[in-house]
Amino acid sequence: MGVGRVTATLEQQDLQHLFHPCTDLAGHARSGPQIWQRGEGVYVYDNHGRKYLEGMAGLWCTALGYGEKELARVAAEQMETFCYGPLFAGKSNEPSIRLATKLSEWVPIEGARFLFGCSGSDANDAQVKLVRYYFNAIGKPSKRKILTRGNAYHGVTVATAALTGLPAFHKHFGLNMDDVIHLTSPHFYRQGRPGESEAEFVERLGQELEEVIAREGADNIAAMFAEPLMGAGGVILPPEGYFQRIQPVLEANDILLVDDEVVCAFGRTGNPFGCQTYGMRPATMTMAKALSSAYLPISAVAVPSFMYEAIAETAGGVGLFAHGLTYSGHPVSAAVAVRNLELMEERGLMAHAAAMSVPFQAALQRLGEHPLVGNQRGIGLIAGLELVADKATRTSFPPSEKMAFRVAAACLEEGLVVRAIVGDIIAVCPPLIINEDQIDELAAKLERGLDRALATVDLAPQATRSA
Ligand SMILES: Cc1ncc(COP(=O)(O)O)c(C=O)c1O
Repeated sequence: MGVGRVTATLEQQDLQHLFHPCTDLAGHARSGPQIWQRGEGVYVYDNHGRKYLEGMAGLWCTALGYGEKELARVAAEQMETFCYGPLFAGKSNEPSIRLATKLSEWVPIEGARFLFGCSGSDANDAQVKLVRYYFNAIGKPSKRKILTRGNAYHGVTVATAALTGLPAFHKHFGLNMDDVIHLTSPHFYRQGRPGESEAEFVERLGQELEEVIAREGADNIAAMFAEPLMGAGGVILPPEGYFQRIQPVLEANDILLVDDEVVCAFGRTGNPFGCQTYGMRPATMTMAKALSSAYLPISAVAVPSFMYEAIAETAGGVGLFAHGLTYSGHPVSAAVAVRNLELMEERGLMAHAAAMSVPFQAALQRLGEHPLVGNQRGIGLIAGLELVADKATRTSFPPSEKMAFRVAAACLEEGLVVRAIVGDIIAVCPPLIINEDQIDELAAKLERGLDRALATVDLAPQATRSA
């Protein structure tokens, strides 16, 4: 840097050099970045020293909260001892072995083995390859199509973006959608028909699945991907009895249920896994995010023994199972994930999260009465508020109003981080360590954020605030 040149601010350098993922790039160029610098417990601090309650756990992931020194200690120790070693060609490392063993105690898939990756996307991408490899191995190579659902979020690789049920993730990317079938989103508030009961809605979705299988042929369908509850698609809880209706159909047609637990796993829904909350019987499972409480990137696929054995036998004919990442089983990430799960056990975090879900859901339910909120939903320590211009008719605000973004911005001014998702939904998903006082603080700030946004709009008469 030459003498006399003014150093660019961090904000200016961001605008000049960073390519922000999942961002309104033009809007970002106008408004600039928010720069986070520090975190402690459920709070984060920006580069101006302002404090915020992190009501989204980052991207649904910082389960143990911020600034956990024990995880930093373990990471530093592992880096000093053995910073990296691959799992390729049978080489191994202790943290990966211990993590796979620990996961076998947690994950409700008998005899599963664990394949590690770096993100939910690469793990789901591996799932697509694994189910196809499996059906090839057992002599059913035509079974390759994948069922998924509107509003699903399964990642952003070429394969998983196609499985994601959100149009923005498809448009202009030149994906290959050939072997992907999108079923109706299980979003009763939006997809239920006038006069249709929740049970009738579930029956309609069950029949749709049967019709699709009849049309495509069970011999051509390998798997169905499903999140227990949908996170990024709008915090959409499955309607009552949904998995009970569809599972027998999948099983009768030898279609594997791939349980995408990237958001739900490790306590989010009030049980260790979302599949336990909703009575799912998954064949395989994808985990990421809270697996390390986001301290380092790591994901895991639980592969049941029936798949592993068939895959291993067929791979023998090839000479190797030719899938893996340089960082599959990265020892530092694995060591942090092991310690993260141990801390969850030692501190009774699953029980704490389940207990906190009661005041959390009660507080969020009260906000369902707010004039801007058409539908409030949630379970455990996750909730969504769907904003509407007219509660009675469920009419949305015009997208140009960017109502959810306005609410999220107003919350930020109140010192609360929440997330605006397409469809005018406000997502709330705090670190699992949140306590009752912090839940009160979160709800009060969220209400003030909603009020601020309300003050900027003209609502239908019945929706204005009466008290
Ligand atoms: C359910 C689900 N699956 C997969 C992914 C993709 O994970 P990643 O962003 O780590 O690639 C996400 C990310 O939010 C997710 O919510």
